[in-house]
Amino acid sequence: MGRAKKVVLAYSGGVDTSVCIPYLKQEWGVEEVITLAADLGQGDELEPIREKALKSGASESLVADVKDNFVKNYAFGGIQANALYENRYPLGTALARPLIAKVLVETAEKYGADAIAHGCTGKGNDQVRFDVSVTALNPNLKILAPAREWGMSREETIAYGEKFGIPSPVKKSSPYSIDKNLLGRSIEAGLLEDPSFEPPEEIYEMTKAIADTPNEPEYIQIGFDGGIPTTLNGIAKKPVELIEELNQVVGNHGIGRIDMIENRLVGIKSREIYESPAMLVLIQAHRDLESLTLTADVTHYKRGIEETYSQIVYNGLWYSPLKVALDAFIQKTQERVSGTVRVKLFKGNSTIVGRSSGNSLYTPDLATYGAEDQFDHKAAEGFIYVWGLPTRIWSRQVRG
Ligand code: ARG
Repeated sequence: MGRAKKVVLAYSGGVDTSVCIPYLKQEWGVEEVITLAADLGQGDELEPIREKALKSGASESLVADVKDNFVKNYAFGGIQANALYENRYPLGTALARPLIAKVLVETAEKYGADAIAHGCTGKGNDQVRFDVSVTALNPNLKILAPAREWGMSREETIAYGEKFGIPSPVKKSSPYSIDKNLLGRSIEAGLLEDPSFEPPEEIYEMTKAIADTPNEPEYIQIGFDGGIPTTLNGIAKKPVELIEELNQVVGNHGIGRIDMIENRLVGIKSREIYESPAMLVLIQAHRDLESLTLTADVTHYKRGIEETYSQIVYNGLWYSPLKVALDAFIQKTQERVSGTVRVKLFKGNSTIVGRSSGNSLYTPDLATYGAEDQFDHKAAEGFIYVWGLPTRIWSRQVRG
């Protein structure tokens, strides 16, 4: 009796997920492996990947274009939540996992599979995100994670694959572990494991080195409708198109790099480099527009919600009841977050230089220091008397 009969495997075309195919069949007695490669805009050619899965022993090799779904239902939620894990990482990898899990589950249900499989190791966050998401969506499906158990080194993995006709990587494979999609690139391992080591320029693909960026600033205008970015420089953009264009424009000015030591859910600290040009600028602009259109208390309260939201997305709880409840709060706050934000891009910096909205709560005749001032200055005195009362009473008691 094998561990499962028919399995849908999350497939990237890399050595590990390719080796999973014969491994599942030979070692774990799986009868049929169906592979699923998700197109998240990672820019890989998917037809060769599809064929490679068949050559590696898959009975069926599927490719799913989920780019539009990814941006609309995952990335835009992250923007509305101003989601930055540990205040910095816009969650490009983390946001993709619940979507891949969803497509795996749907495929398993469609093909009558009894399990899903992935190639994650036991040290990362991604295994948690896959497993918890799959369990939430269909608790009857088994989850197989060969790379979590097989204990093979890189060389052993390649040698195992060769026995079953999986070609070893042609070019000397990158010393880094890289995950990429429309929202950015996550780069770790190799020389980067030394936290004191400066990342070499060659690891970057989406962001230019400052030395190569334009010597003139570029101004862009991002339009939001209900907290969702919809226009760039006054022109309506489809979700995927908007992210792609912004990645180009922003990355061209060397903006979007993050070098951080982050706390993984499994307790390990890891050194991660990210490039995420579009997401970082979109969150920056979105947050600014919120300052204009939300009241102080909603803005301040939302900060705490954003922190929790970022943590639960990072920690694999996308399909949890807490996430659903936070979404309800966030969605309500976004109803009036519409307007435009002007951003100046120059030499690695993005700066908000202007914002406007039909829902603006900024009141010129109250804010002004000019003659038009409508603010009742005398009212301030009574307000301060009451506001400071508890402190005054305390002070009298303590100091006598
Ligand atoms: N640390 C990031 C996260 O947990 C990225 C993980 C994938 N990174 C990688 N280089 N393979 O979301």
